[in-house]
Amino acid sequence: MPAASNQFASLADFADKAGDLAATRHHLHAHPELSFEEHETARYVAERLESFGYEVARNVGGLGVVGRLSQGEGGRSIAIRADMDALPIAEATGLPYASTAPGKMHACGHDGHTTMLLGAAEYLARTRRFTGTVNLVFQPAEEAGKVSGAQAMIADGLFERFPCDAIFGLHNHPGAPAGSFLMRAGPLMAAADTVTITVTGRGGHASRPHLTIDPIVTAANLVMTLQTVVSRNVSPLETAVVTVGTIHGGTATNVIPESAELTLSVRSFSREVRETLERRIRAIAASVAEAHGARVEVDYEKGYPVVINAEPETAFATEVVTELVGAENVAVCPLIPGSEDFSYFLEHKPGCFLRLGNGEDSAILHSSKYDFNDKSLTAGAAMWARLAERFLAA
Ligand code: NI
Repeated sequence: MPAASNQFASLADFADKAGDLAATRHHLHAHPELSFEEHETARYVAERLESFGYEVARNVGGLGVVGRLSQGEGGRSIAIRADMDALPIAEATGLPYASTAPGKMHACGHDGHTTMLLGAAEYLARTRRFTGTVNLVFQPAEEAGKVSGAQAMIADGLFERFPCDAIFGLHNHPGAPAGSFLMRAGPLMAAADTVTITVTGRGGHASRPHLTIDPIVTAANLVMTLQTVVSRNVSPLETAVVTVGTIHGGTATNVIPESAELTLSVRSFSREVRETLERRIRAIAASVAEAHGARVEVDYEKGYPVVINAEPETAFATEVVTELVGAENVAVCPLIPGSEDFSYFLEHKPGCFLRLGNGEDSAILHSSKYDFNDKSLTAGAAMWARLAERFLAA
């Protein structure tokens, strides 16, 4: 067998593409589109994929685009996903290619993610050193919060129309060296749920509390009892957050109000802990309200689930990045309390979500000063090309 290092895409294969990739990225950066509005971005991606020779499906789950390329007799198939949407932030970078759309900005680096996957797409179509099927998934509305692009594409039959054995994706990572990779098997990014608890009592005069059911006292009791969920119901070896972010009730000192409202942010890193948190929050809300004779309504709004990387696919992707950039540029990724809708894909298919360094001095994600680091473009594009070639090796 020939040496593996000669068969698969390397950083050197992309060295002369750095300028093209930066030009693509700057074009996308200058023309940001919000979730569910990525019409021009989707059109641009679809036309580029067609020009490379891909079979292209448009409007998959809204404005999603899938490019498919088959080669040889191999029966394996891989999916690789990039997100395309921007954020409602006024850009303050002062860059020559800064946003031309007021109040909209690629402040999460999805311009870079899309560019790198297009770079790999061009390479794979030109070299065709694989056997099987590559599905490149360009997803809209990652930032939507609910009914996101990932959910919409899955609901539109993504995995039935474009079957795959595994799915991979990545996000840039401010604070880590540009072009380095951070990897973690198992839970990687948090599930983030929002809960609204409405306590309804019976209002009345502040001087006659015995004739009322005071929702303020009930709500206060609830805030304190909710502190026991993480401390008493979650293993000390696990991690979770239950934060009561707002508490509202009452309008005057001499009036006991009819109702009070609490809102909570709830974060977890495993499905089991997530279920425990919901079960306990509901039980505590019901029992505390009952103890005070009040009624309670719990609106439990599920955000994105936990991103859970499969062990074999993560081991495989770690091998690929280590071959590509060397072990000194691959680190273990810490748990990330942010959330990401790639988690929905991972509920259907095994796969791995990688993190790509965006530079130690990078502004944080969602900052008006943030910019994707062009120095990472070739590493990301080469990584996707090599990962696909290795996954679909003869
Ligand atoms: Ni993002």
